[in-house]
Amino acid sequence: MISPCLEVNERGHLAISGCDTVELAGQYGTPLYVMSEDEVRRVCRSYVQSFQKFYGGHGCPIYASKAFSCKEICRIVASEGLDLEVVSGGELYTALQAGVAAEREHFQGNNKSAGEISFAIESGVGDIVVDSFSELQMVERIAEEHNTTAQISLRVKPGIDAHTHDFIRTGQIDSKFGIDLVSGEAMEAVRQSLGLEHVHLKGLHCHIGSQILEVEPFVHAAAVMLELLAKVKEELGVELGHLNLGGGFGVHYTEQDNAVPYEDYMAAVSAMVHEKCEKLGLSQPKIYIEPGRSVVAEAGITLYTVGTIKEIPGVRNFVSIDGGMFENPRYALYQAEYTCLLANRAGEPADYIATIAGKCCESGDLIQEHTPIQRPEMGNILAVLTTGAYNYSMASNYNRNLKPPCVMVSQGESRIIIKGETYEDLVRNDV
Ligand SMILES: Cc1ncc(COP(=O)(O)O)c(C=O)c1O
Repeated sequence: MISPCLEVNERGHLAISGCDTVELAGQYGTPLYVMSEDEVRRVCRSYVQSFQKFYGGHGCPIYASKAFSCKEICRIVASEGLDLEVVSGGELYTALQAGVAAEREHFQGNNKSAGEISFAIESGVGDIVVDSFSELQMVERIAEEHNTTAQISLRVKPGIDAHTHDFIRTGQIDSKFGIDLVSGEAMEAVRQSLGLEHVHLKGLHCHIGSQILEVEPFVHAAAVMLELLAKVKEELGVELGHLNLGGGFGVHYTEQDNAVPYEDYMAAVSAMVHEKCEKLGLSQPKIYIEPGRSVVAEAGITLYTVGTIKEIPGVRNFVSIDGGMFENPRYALYQAEYTCLLANRAGEPADYIATIAGKCCESGDLIQEHTPIQRPEMGNILAVLTTGAYNYSMASNYNRNLKPPCVMVSQGESRIIIKGETYEDLVRNDV
């Protein structure tokens, strides 16, 4: 199985953290998001431990909550010692409501509104990651209005082209995120920040993309960013104490994904950090990384009930489910790959080639095409694996479908962490 929290139990059913998924579907209905608390905690611990091992605890992992933001996930990752990254007033509000201290929150985003920046400053957010020159001026102005000093860092575009899907690459020059390093803009932004009265520049940040399955781009990014820190020290006489190297670590969507163990990333990147600091005469800054997907993706699965089956000879077999792009838009967005299986017959061979179709009024509303599953019948339970990241957080009410509930499982027990929507919820804001 592609995640340690999954197994086929003695009944031949898919089980997650000791819970039979067919029973979960019966108890809570479908579609249903299921998250393993055990797996989320296991991954968090492995990140925290590797910070101890490779940086002596000087810095910490930050959970990028865009991957899955809800109060219970925020509570769990914070209780494991991770900081939180938020990218909107809504994610910030969720984290605060979950009781995560504002100083442990890092506010990202390429176009934060004045209202969001005010909210962050009023809440005492520990790190506003400034993405542009105009935002720098806006943060200065709003901090001044609040008679305070905003804690900031600068998001730098390091000019690194990670090999991943076009929509999730962010480190190269043609990206809407960050301030360009190569043209000298990043140095200029540091210079300007240091001259402002109402911001305190803590450090620099970069993020090169998502679902990256190689170590090399991360090592390269660390080297480039440390060289920039050295340049700042040399030219401006300031040694910045924080370096956030972003997230993007790849996970297993299918057996073919060659995801690198987190420890290997940490070992390779920390070796470069130590080497460069030594060579450039820098004290080691506090190091941060910002994983989102890798914290929650493999902890999650989605359960559906199989509906109509349309076999078109020589073309494809449509297997329809009671979900679709409204609760998982990733295939429709960028042909994301997934592993699918029938949860009630997980032990049987997957010798039927199916196109899993959602129920929305779009031909592109597919979850996967031409994928092997067990021979399906109406009423079977279909499981899609590795849906913990960028599924619930990307869900919509398209076609006025209801966002499904989310159940958290741990050691054979289950509990609701997000209630399913009702029809009343759908019309709540309609006038
Ligand atoms: C700034 C920033 N940090 C962290 C992440 C998390 O990336 P991932 O979920 O791939 O780890 C993202 C995602 O795109 C991001 O934009």
